[in-house]
Amino acid sequence: MAIKYNADRKTFILETRNSSYLMKVSRYGNLLHLYYGKKIPDKNLDFLLKFQDRGFSPNPNEAGNDRTFSLDFLQQEYSTDGKGDYRSPSIEVVNGDGSTIFSGKMAGYKIYKGKYCIKGMPSLRAVSGDTADTLEIRLEDRESQAAVILGYSVFEEKDVITRTVRFVNGGRQSLMLKRLMSVTLDYRDSDFDLIYFSGRHTMEREFNRIPVQSGMHSIGSSRGTSSHQFNPFGIVCRKNTDEDRGDCYGYSLVYSGNFLLEAEQDQFSQLRVNMGINPRDFSYRVDPGEEFQAPEVVLAYSDQGLTGLTHLYHDVFRENLCRSPYSKKVRPVLINSWEAAYFDFDEEKILNIARESVAMGVDLFVLDDGWFGNRDDDNSSLGDWTVNRRKLKDGLDGLSEKIHQMGLQFGLWIEPEMVSENSDLYRKHPDWCLKAPGRPMTRGRNQLVLDLSRKEVCEYLIQTINEILESAKIEYVKWDMNRSISDVWSGALEKDRQGEALHRYVLGLYYIMDNIILKHPEIIFCGCSGGGGRYDPAMLYYQPQMWCSDNTDAISRLKIQFGTSFAYPVNALEAHVSVCPNHQTGRSVSLKTRGIVAMGGILGYELDSTKLSEEEKEFCRKQVNFYKKNYRVIAEGDYYRLTNPYENRSFTAWEHVTKNKKKALISLVLTDKESNAPQLYLRLKGLDENAFYRVEGHRGSFSGALLMNAGIPVPPELGEYDSVQFVLRMVQEAE
Ligand code: DGJ
Repeated sequence: MAIKYNADRKTFILETRNSSYLMKVSRYGNLLHLYYGKKIPDKNLDFLLKFQDRGFSPNPNEAGNDRTFSLDFLQQEYSTDGKGDYRSPSIEVVNGDGSTIFSGKMAGYKIYKGKYCIKGMPSLRAVSGDTADTLEIRLEDRESQAAVILGYSVFEEKDVITRTVRFVNGGRQSLMLKRLMSVTLDYRDSDFDLIYFSGRHTMEREFNRIPVQSGMHSIGSSRGTSSHQFNPFGIVCRKNTDEDRGDCYGYSLVYSGNFLLEAEQDQFSQLRVNMGINPRDFSYRVDPGEEFQAPEVVLAYSDQGLTGLTHLYHDVFRENLCRSPYSKKVRPVLINSWEAAYFDFDEEKILNIARESVAMGVDLFVLDDGWFGNRDDDNSSLGDWTVNRRKLKDGLDGLSEKIHQMGLQFGLWIEPEMVSENSDLYRKHPDWCLKAPGRPMTRGRNQLVLDLSRKEVCEYLIQTINEILESAKIEYVKWDMNRSISDVWSGALEKDRQGEALHRYVLGLYYIMDNIILKHPEIIFCGCSGGGGRYDPAMLYYQPQMWCSDNTDAISRLKIQFGTSFAYPVNALEAHVSVCPNHQTGRSVSLKTRGIVAMGGILGYELDSTKLSEEEKEFCRKQVNFYKKNYRVIAEGDYYRLTNPYENRSFTAWEHVTKNKKKALISLVLTDKESNAPQLYLRLKGLDENAFYRVEGHRGSFSGALLMNAGIPVPPELGEYDSVQFVLRMVQEAE
């Protein structure tokens, strides 16, 4: 068992391969946090708790005259509210009498084998080969008889701990929950940096590293989705932590709606981290006998620097998260119609693009937006999921059939969660979208958001989308979502339940995904929200790959893919080679570099193949072959960021290494060409320093030690945006 309880010391001990997590029940029943970090043999950490009489730090009633016990400075496992802890709380609840106090005291625990379950929301599962043990601790507020049940599942071999919290109303009055964080973690000091990923549409997950300072640092989303603007992933690390060494802690929320990540340095220079559903625009009425569950947070600790932390997330997300059988399979190389045709196509044009792409070696053709209703631009028809016969005379089945005859698989774009005002669906059910009565609604891309908190809307979508998926031979679906949510009000909810609408929307989304995506395991689903606007682990539970960004410019992608790589595995990241000048930035980059960058993920194409020359198509075919030959190391190997594009302006490089270190693929793009430049060197990582490696296609070998310590010269003849890519193979002995 990776979880133990020492009754004498009232201490819980959780252990993974390389980390320990300890907490203790205080003499007054509060659950105090003792330690999370590098694995330690010690079981008695009581001496770490220092009790002091501090001015303006109130003492709970049960402490009597003991002025040294105050929740104002003690590290808490899940903080109380209204009892003298003034840091940002884990929970906020309005009791039946209007008070806002919640004081959770130890009221029992259980330890069991296996993983806890979260009903209606995605979470990790234990797979064969690893164990998960679970601890549940009940903290009860005696006065309201409400309780929180803290859930911890320890994935010992995977080195991660997941957490969730259930709020249970055991009293007689309805309670209004205003905040229920999935995790609170108190550190004894705050000598840390905070790393987070911010962005915007077409520039997602930019890397930020800031020192933790006095006060509150908070990032999050209130857009209804996990968002382009901030990703629900953050890292707290020691100041000397770099890619290769140092302590770091990762926080990843398995949730697709509004979230909040707080890092607060308190008056005594301690750090509290909270993560969970964003309390903004949130409240949830929990009636007697009912409960509310917070989404899962995946916690990981590494003393092997940021790369070590990345490997933990990549492995656990690859193996324990995604439910699609495709997460383990080789994905087809696709060509997508969006940047090739946008809305302007008919069957003939589509077939021409598909036909010409056969010579490029692709496996699958994806028909993007514009195939349904009267959708000639983005102003109409969302919700009317019937094929546009003016454009596609033989329907989806006819088109799919013809594409299959070319030897290609067929994929389709959908955006189930939306409705256009100019649509039959909206004319029939104007009340099915989120909008407040008597208020003009806010449009985004001229579309409205369907109210997925309504059961009938979900059932309608399940039926309609499943019918489409079964109407033709479809092997791939791109599930898009193209606006931030506003005007939140649901006709299905009572007045004091409107704060539930966004969370219920997310639950509705998971419900329809359960009944569409999980009902079609034979289809590869690709997550998308205007690119990477909903790039979160919950989406990865359903969809083995996600469209990383609407920005297909290879140079912009270097930063976007760099930021994305911290938490999300390479085999989840869909990347396309598009045309030049690039449609988003106007930049021109060689086909070679575009391919090398797109091979930093699941390779695809998104251009008009009828406009490519025979040489270009042949070039793409070779690119695809190279990618396929190296698919396993790319998709399943360990990923190393060799440079940070925010620090190294000259070049960006990355490396994929097989788990047994026998093969590595190295990619480098020159990002700034200087005149008479200094010779640049690239030091590799993750190789066996005692082994020898040969560059595929070349003679001679080099030791892993040499390649990692002296590095290799970056070819001086490379021009700006030129690139190199090579494979290293371990050889038996030095050549
Ligand atoms: C946004 C997506 O990210 C694009 O790739 C494309 O599918 C458009 N939507 C279609 O409307």
